[in-house]
Amino acid sequence: MSTNLYNLPGFGGGQANEPQPGRGGPAAASGGEAAPADPALAPAGESRPSSVGDVLAQTQIEPVLAELDRELVGLVPVKTRIREIAALLVIDRLRTAHGLTAQTPSLHMCFTGNPGTGKTTVALRMAQILHRLGYVRKGHLVAVTRDDLVGQYIGHTAPKTKEVLKKAMGGVLFIDEAYYLYRPENERDYGQEAIEILLQVMENQRDDLVVILAGYQDRMDTFFQSNPGMSSRIAHHLSFPDYSVDELLSIADLMLGQMNYHFDEGALAAFREYVAHRVQQPHFANARSVRNALDRARLRQANRLFADRDAPIDAQALTTLAESDIRASRVFRDGLSAPHRS
Ligand SMILES: Nc1ncnc2c1ncn2[C@@H]1O[C@H](COP(=O)(O)OP(=O)(O)OP(=O)(O)O)[C@@H](O)[C@H]1O
Ligand SMILES: [Mg+2]
Repeated sequence: MSTNLYNLPGFGGGQANEPQPGRGGPAAASGGEAAPADPALAPAGESRPSSVGDVLAQTQIEPVLAELDRELVGLVPVKTRIREIAALLVIDRLRTAHGLTAQTPSLHMCFTGNPGTGKTTVALRMAQILHRLGYVRKGHLVAVTRDDLVGQYIGHTAPKTKEVLKKAMGGVLFIDEAYYLYRPENERDYGQEAIEILLQVMENQRDDLVVILAGYQDRMDTFFQSNPGMSSRIAHHLSFPDYSVDELLSIADLMLGQMNYHFDEGALAAFREYVAHRVQQPHFANARSVRNALDRARLRQANRLFADRDAPIDAQALTTLAESDIRASRVFRDGLSAPHRS
């Protein structure tokens, strides 16, 4: 069994049964017939979209874009690119409705950036957008790494890669650190076999599978230089910048709100200090490090509250992270310059 292969919650198999606004949404025929396979190919009773507004109403992608704006701090260049891609696809729907589009546009993408910059999160949203616009049937995301695709022995790689592709069909295949598929130092590396199968499917089944390659920018550049076939199949390159300290604090605030916690005044100031130092340390992973730091603060808060078993605890106490919950971090304990992870 693969350990790294997972269908992310909320976007997995169940999604296929959810109402699909692009296919059976507000403008769908009310006859109880099966939803049309393609929102732009309107059946009798459903009006052919004649404006951008029609496609937006039929596909309901605006709420997804709005959610992306709301739930992700910063990432302005990424959000802009996603809107551009969405616009391209909306126009493609209209072109299809007018019989002007000959083939499915190539939608394979590459997301580059450091750890914790939001690549997986955005890929999930992208899968949702593509689904709503009718470019993938199910809209789920299957996230894998080299180990899920490449076998250890002769004859193992092809079945492994094909199994993953089968699971991802109708959705998005997200390959994290995709460059590890290519190991030039080992002549007989099985990664090459996986790449060749992927290339074929990316070309022949692009109407039913979108592949997103993710990883560090420099390694991805090298990978593309050595694999021009892969490079030429990637239509969209999105680069995810590191977050500024202010953005990281906004991300913390957003995460705390979602979890029903907040900082008190002292904790907020301490956390700002914490982040300002943490960004300079090794192994800093942007929003992921923020999430981890908050998890540890919640742990300390729980232990602080737990220690006094007779004190009444109100909602305020249960939701408040105090300065001491932050300052107990090793970043403060070992001196602010010491390179530590937590
Ligand atoms: N801009 C953002 N606003 C709010 N939360 C964010 C943002 N970017 C990332 N996060 C959160 O940070 C965590 C890590 O993000 P994600 O897994 O998408 O990053 P990644 O680039 O895929 O990282 P990795 O390379 O480590 O896999 C997630 O919990 C995500 O919700
Ligand atoms: Mg990720």
